Amino acid sequence: MATIAEARKLLTDRINRIQVSATLAVVNEASKLREAGADLVDFGAGEPHFSTPRHIKDAAIAAINADFTKYTAVAGITELRQAIVRRHSADLGSNYKPEETVATTGGKLALFNAVQVLVDHGDEVIIPVPYWVSFKDIVEYAGGRCVYVESSEEDGFRLTAEMIEAAITPRTKAIILNSPNNPSGAVMSPEDMTAVARLAAERGIYVISDECYVYLNFAGKPFSVGSLTNIKEYLVVIGSLSKTYAMTGWRLGYALAPSPVISAMQKLQSQSTSNATSIVQKAGVAALTGPQNCVSEMRQGYTKLAEQVIAGLGTIPGVRCVPPEGAFYVYPNVSAFFGRGGIRSAADVACRLLHEAHVVTVPGEGFGTHEHIRVSYATSEKELDRGIERMRKFFGGL
Ligand SMILES: Cc1ncc(COP(=O)(O)O)c(C=O)c1O
Repeated sequence: MATIAEARKLLTDRINRIQVSATLAVVNEASKLREAGADLVDFGAGEPHFSTPRHIKDAAIAAINADFTKYTAVAGITELRQAIVRRHSADLGSNYKPEETVATTGGKLALFNAVQVLVDHGDEVIIPVPYWVSFKDIVEYAGGRCVYVESSEEDGFRLTAEMIEAAITPRTKAIILNSPNNPSGAVMSPEDMTAVARLAAERGIYVISDECYVYLNFAGKPFSVGSLTNIKEYLVVIGSLSKTYAMTGWRLGYALAPSPVISAMQKLQSQSTSNATSIVQKAGVAALTGPQNCVSEMRQGYTKLAEQVIAGLGTIPGVRCVPPEGAFYVYPNVSAFFGRGGIRSAADVACRLLHEAHVVTVPGEGFGTHEHIRVSYATSEKELDRGIERMRKFFGGL
């Protein structure tokens, strides 16, 4: 049998450039413990604990019963593309035509395809830190070079146009924004986002704005760079139904961008996944055109859970936490425990929390920082209390 080093030689440079998602290691470890019978509290999952709303499920069932089970157009059925641009326009003030959107198998694929069609070998892509795990590997798979811009915890992980501007070079091709942010929960102000988009447009640099959590904003009104209708040429908005409608497993996302970019993404998709699942597209139409109170109800649920997690973590001496303004994560700083009980890193904290306290969290290393762990509070109030109690005992014992 070939060794790992030998096997790597057989594989392409591009696949050898990337790693499996950093969150996967934790998930695998947690699964093993669960299979062995451990009662875990799971703060690791990056997905809603809510069920997909009934009317969305019913639309998918109706689609199956109506035999809507064949290939569709690669970019999605017209009804869905219309529903995407109309919902985005109504809620976020954008102005896209159905030809300026492509439906994808999850927001992650929209991001992946956008980067593959825009980023060439040697191109630089600016990525603010902390970043969602996949940004780095998706850029590196395309042959791009990641240029990181550190945001400061003391400033609530705020990102400004000046910080981005300082990282621009003649090789900069794109800037990836993600607000509300995974993992920090930070929200960029509309002014800061607008300033970055203007700056990029002036220099012919693309802004790829990952707005998968746009509706989960507790700080203010949801804002999309897509609303900057006079500088659309260099904007790519990435959207997803996963978090907004509790549909992670259905895999439905989209991009909004100028037609040439959408056409290129469509071409790439035509040679890989083809259309998003036909049944899921019908469910997506129901989600986007149906009653929207489920979205605000879930947002209210997360707002309460955010307060609960911040209050709870606040009672643990040594754990420092910036209050989240959106998404469903908090990103506590656990560096006060480095050097205690053999702990040297955030990865050690997450590993020990898992094995000794049976609480699943994700270490910050995968998100580009070294002093934090990510806690997902998309769970019930009871689970949140149970997990925080376990964390209190664990940290108290160090
Ligand atoms: C920042 C961010 N972008 C994109 C995604 C991808 O979501 P999906 O592919 O489920 O639409 C996620 C999922 O966790 C995310 O956190």
